[in-house]
Amino acid sequence: MINLMLTSCTIERGAAARCAEAPVPAQVRTQVQDPAHAHVQAAAELADGLGAHQARISPKFLYDALGSTLFEAICALPEYYPTRTEAALFERFGAEIARACGAGTTLIDLGAGNCAKAASLFPRLRPARYVAVDISVDFLTEALARLRGRFPHIAMEALGLDFSNGLALPDSVPAERRLFFYPGSSLGNFTPPEARAFLLRLRNECGPDGGLLIGIDLVKDKATLDAAYDDALGVTAAFNLNILRHANHLLGADFDVRGWRHVAFYNEAPGRVEMHLEARTPQRVRWPGGGRDFAAGERIHTENSYKYRQADAIALLEQSGFETTRIWLDARCPFAVIHAQAIR
Ligand code: AVJ
Repeated sequence: MINLMLTSCTIERGAAARCAEAPVPAQVRTQVQDPAHAHVQAAAELADGLGAHQARISPKFLYDALGSTLFEAICALPEYYPTRTEAALFERFGAEIARACGAGTTLIDLGAGNCAKAASLFPRLRPARYVAVDISVDFLTEALARLRGRFPHIAMEALGLDFSNGLALPDSVPAERRLFFYPGSSLGNFTPPEARAFLLRLRNECGPDGGLLIGIDLVKDKATLDAAYDDALGVTAAFNLNILRHANHLLGADFDVRGWRHVAFYNEAPGRVEMHLEARTPQRVRWPGGGRDFAAGERIHTENSYKYRQADAIALLEQSGFETTRIWLDARCPFAVIHAQAIR
């Protein structure tokens, strides 16, 4: 394995694990929230962002089926450290993590993707129920179908919804013992105030006995960050450029993907990695009801990935109604897995 220096520190003794694991029949349900409306809303959001003075496309549009596959490939890149660093923490501290979270929870996986991270925790975490939420529902349903065979005693449910603008879980999700799982430092896609608002919504959705298991990428040297988001093989470039194909599909736009270049760098002042697409030559883009001309060198901002300092991450959670109980750290490649419980 790569150079890892893993530590865990107790912030406060968490409550003893509660064990109330009744056998639940295996079940896979898939719910997609109003796909027609979602499509109209996506098109409106894309047109709005592309028309802005500084053009932008939300990073959630990176994840169509191909984008999700490209992201899986990113996770296998030598330069992209977050996935394997976090996986090593889950592996090394799985038992402690399970003890902090307690068994028999309803594990709600936000941005579940291929569900591999949650599945790696199942044997020790032993949730009663697994709710996989992702904007890319086709990808999700396939992943869940594979999983149900391996863990027949865990009730499973797939929710195809965009939780970036709020999270109203259907009645099928039990209100008790909710454990939100938000790994991979996806929180970094939000600005800190947005992150606070998002976590606050989770806090409101999880009730007084709820908790959160979250992976947060920490500030590190610029060279490591630049390479992680601009890899030698160009997989991240393909991932970023694919957002234009997806926009063509959702919005009916006519982006010429070859006319754009991937640009990614760590911006130290705001403490975030930024991804952009830069026009190689002047670009004219049209879509039903609108369009825009881009000058050569003009950029579309596609993603922010904020990196936190450990103390700032804990403060952010606290401001959102979550008290940190445990932190597991990789000190060599700074990354934190945090368990927090709802402040009553
Ligand atoms: C899935 C948002 C955590 O920000 O590191 C990877 C997405 N973008 N490479 C990240 C991403 C470019 C990733 N998150």
